[in-house]
Amino acid sequence: MKKLMIINGPNLNFLGTREQDIYGQDSYEKLLEIINEKAIRMNIKIVVYQTNHEGVFIEYIHEAINNHYDGLIVNPAGYSHTSISILDALNIFTNKKIEVHISDVLNREKFRSKLITANGCDGIICNRGILGYEEAIDYIINEN
Ligand code: DQA
Repeated sequence: MKKLMIINGPNLNFLGTREQDIYGQDSYEKLLEIINEKAIRMNIKIVVYQTNHEGVFIEYIHEAINNHYDGLIVNPAGYSHTSISILDALNIFTNKKIEVHISDVLNREKFRSKLITANGCDGIICNRGILGYEEAIDYIINEN
């Protein structure tokens, strides 16, 4: 059975509450539910993590590397624009990896258009709301 890991960064646990005009009304629990249902439908294993800490985010990537995950989907949230260490960790993971952004990062504040961690991924999906996670799963599974 194929196994994927999804890692969400800071403040994404507040989905549905935080800036609803930007991130939508669906809660983080709803996102987990959608991912779980999709995993069952596709007969794949998907492990989902959320952390508000950069080092923990990196350790989850290490877990995906050490346990030979088939794919990795990351939304490093604010760290996407700053973290060379997350980029370095992503570069160690050699299977398929996609960076997801719920919002339209390329057309918001200028500082959000600088995507550092995405350089370590095979592609970026942004401005698709939480549907972007489903698209990332499809991309990884169909490419493998
Ligand atoms: C985000 C965009 C980031 O700029 C922001 O810091 C987030 C969420 C998104 O999913 O659109 O926390 O990664």
